[in-house]
Amino acid sequence: MIDRRVFGNGFLWGVSTSSYQIEGAVDEGGRGPSIWDTFSHTPGKIQRGETGDRAVDHYHRLADDVALMGRIGINAYRFSIAWSRLLPAGRGDVNPEGVAFYRELGERLVAAGITPVATLYHWDLPQALQDEGGWLNPASPEWFADYAAIAKEHLGDLISIWSTFNEPWCIAFLGHSAGEHAPGITDPGSAYVVAHNVMVGHHLAVARMRAIDPRPEDRIGIVLNAVPSCPGGDTPEDRQAADAIDAIQNRLFLEAAFRGAYPDPVRRLHRRYGVADRIDEDRLAAIRQDMDFLGLNYYDIHKVVHDAGAPPTAHWPGADGARLVKTSGGPTAMGWGVNPDGLTMVLEQMGKEYPDTPLYVCENGAAYPDSVGPDGTVDDPERIAYLDAHIAAMGTAIEHGADVRGYFIWSLLDNFEWTWGYAIRFGLVRVDPDTLERTIKQSGYWYRDFIRSTRV
Ligand code: FCB
Repeated sequence: MIDRRVFGNGFLWGVSTSSYQIEGAVDEGGRGPSIWDTFSHTPGKIQRGETGDRAVDHYHRLADDVALMGRIGINAYRFSIAWSRLLPAGRGDVNPEGVAFYRELGERLVAAGITPVATLYHWDLPQALQDEGGWLNPASPEWFADYAAIAKEHLGDLISIWSTFNEPWCIAFLGHSAGEHAPGITDPGSAYVVAHNVMVGHHLAVARMRAIDPRPEDRIGIVLNAVPSCPGGDTPEDRQAADAIDAIQNRLFLEAAFRGAYPDPVRRLHRRYGVADRIDEDRLAAIRQDMDFLGLNYYDIHKVVHDAGAPPTAHWPGADGARLVKTSGGPTAMGWGVNPDGLTMVLEQMGKEYPDTPLYVCENGAAYPDSVGPDGTVDDPERIAYLDAHIAAMGTAIEHGADVRGYFIWSLLDNFEWTWGYAIRFGLVRVDPDTLERTIKQSGYWYRDFIRSTRV
């Protein structure tokens, strides 16, 4: 049993969302199209052909959704800004309606005593920039830094906690090697180039944002899905396989963020895929910025075995002979296992390897096929058990010295779960697929009571 006092009174207890997954109103308010509009409208990409066109209509339900947050009693809300709402063509003219929308969100949050935590890029690149090559264009880091500076300039009086990117591994490898996410490219070399341009963009953006109206409370970081890579068995081969996945999933991004460099196995892959000349590591080192925090998204561990006959994986291209096996617990509706110990592990490891950097758990949560009871309540005991176990696991890491400052549940609302569409439900709040009516699930009430109980 965790002593709830470990979290302290300043701890941020929040929920997380992202723009394309909840906003809808894709052609309203002057918003320009993004790569997710294009991708979701491409036949065969999303289950049942679903799109984020309407999503859960958060754009029109801002006031109600902030009121819901108040009822759950969170003191922080992590959301993302749609680049193409601020800059419909990705650069150039700023869209005043886009600025007004996020200003209204920020104002409502602040008025409700909820700290806004903004992500600049949760995967929805303006389509106009994709038409110029997207993240493969060597100018893409500058496009991003310009956008980040504009966001800070227009919203920086309301928002002080910023992350540049959400899960760059997904941007690079799901988007450009596996092709499962927008823009749907399937070229391993491209994925390594994109990973580099994204990380250069991160450092440039941090520097630019720090120069605009600096305030002592400003905190800028990045959010990674650092997934513990655990050998399936106690053999050198399994350890090596786990290490190969770890290099691509985790160390590539951690080392680029903290040290402005790449680990040797990643450099070898740059050469193997013939892209080394498009990756200027000296520049990365020269522009590197310290971060104010590291955000981590945690759902499950990777359990990795060596299998000489394993087919090559587009998710970790170059990790030859590595194969993922099912982890224990669960599975949740995503097919993911339930391994709260992995959260303790990753928080403790980050605390040791990158000391003096505060940590936030920026996403954690689980999808289950919730149903509505005859009295209208949504009983989701599995989600409550999942959250309870993971919060306890985080508490253990804090007791062991990890400097964790906040925890955000994915997600506030059932929403558009990328290629899975709307059938996968992560919300603390149920959203009726037809009427979009919101109902707080039992897990939402559980979180409310839990947060209250931590105030000591
Ligand atoms: C993360 C994403 C988030 C959501 C959850 C389930 O990888 O950041 O948008 O899809 O997974």
